[in-house]
Amino acid sequence: MAHVIDIQGIHRIFETGAGFNHVLRGVSLTVEKGELLAIMGPSGSGKSTLMNILGLLDTPTSGTYKLEGLDVSTLSDDDLSFVRGRRIGFVFQSFNLLPRASVLRNVLLPLAYGDVPSREREPRAVAALTAVDLAPDHWDHKTNELSGGQMQRVAIARALVCDPAIILADEPTGNLDSATGEQVLQTFERLRERGKTIVLITHDASVAARADRTVHILDGKIQQGAFVGAGTVGGTLAPHAGTSAPAAVPDFAATPVPPASTAPAPHATVPHHVPEV
Ligand SMILES: Nc1ncnc2c1ncn2[C@@H]1O[C@H](COP(=O)(O)OP(=O)(O)OP(=O)(O)O)[C@@H](O)[C@H]1O
Ligand SMILES: [Mg+2]
Repeated sequence: MAHVIDIQGIHRIFETGAGFNHVLRGVSLTVEKGELLAIMGPSGSGKSTLMNILGLLDTPTSGTYKLEGLDVSTLSDDDLSFVRGRRIGFVFQSFNLLPRASVLRNVLLPLAYGDVPSREREPRAVAALTAVDLAPDHWDHKTNELSGGQMQRVAIARALVCDPAIILADEPTGNLDSATGEQVLQTFERLRERGKTIVLITHDASVAARADRTVHILDGKIQQGAFVGAGTVGGTLAPHAGTSAPAAVPDFAATPVPPASTAPAPHATVPHHVPEV
């Protein structure tokens, strides 16, 4: 089966008032279904830049990206939004919840922009909140009444509610103490057991140690041969505990990626030669 994520030779050069900033310098990486991958690296090394590309929030200056076998450079902007909304869930360090809205409303929100019939929305939100193990007596609380660990689990439920194939988490435990960070890690581990693919940026080696594999980025390049966590860069994956969902929770079945549009590729203007800057 095709890799869930397959990027080859990705470069990202930002053009700023001060000149060119060559941030990603030939990043190649594959991620398998059900893998929990950690990305580590110093501040400014390009981790979030890479995550934005993986999340279809940004396009590379050059290089290829196949998401579930689909060359995303062939997609129109509308198709990119469609794929992003259906196949990718985002979790951020600062949670990014609506503070005065209830937990349930925060999780329902992404469904309002999709084509999920209204009668199916609440059961899906309930299933997502159940999957992250947030007790029902919290569901009508405002999110600013929750602990950090609870807020992050609401954010994971919100990422999960559209049933993405991939969850991209940028320092999801960065604002949490170790006990609440542990709850969040256990939530990711449960989702991995249910077949979700998770890419997680962290500065914390003990978080990375829980991943199947860790890649290190330095100055916009993946460092080869580093060894952290349960796997090595490019190495074999640790076995997973299982793939079945708890009986009480509806499973988030995979939905197919839409066919590629024939619209002009957003990458059409990508230069063939990446300037050295
Ligand atoms: N939109 C942009 N325009 C110009 N430069 C950018 C842009 N986004 C990121 N950069 C630059 O890219 C470099 C890498 O930034 P990035 O956010 O990917 O780092 P990071 O590894 O995530 O760091 P941190 O650990 O601090 O979050 C930085 O020098 C940053 O200034
Ligand atoms: Mg970052």
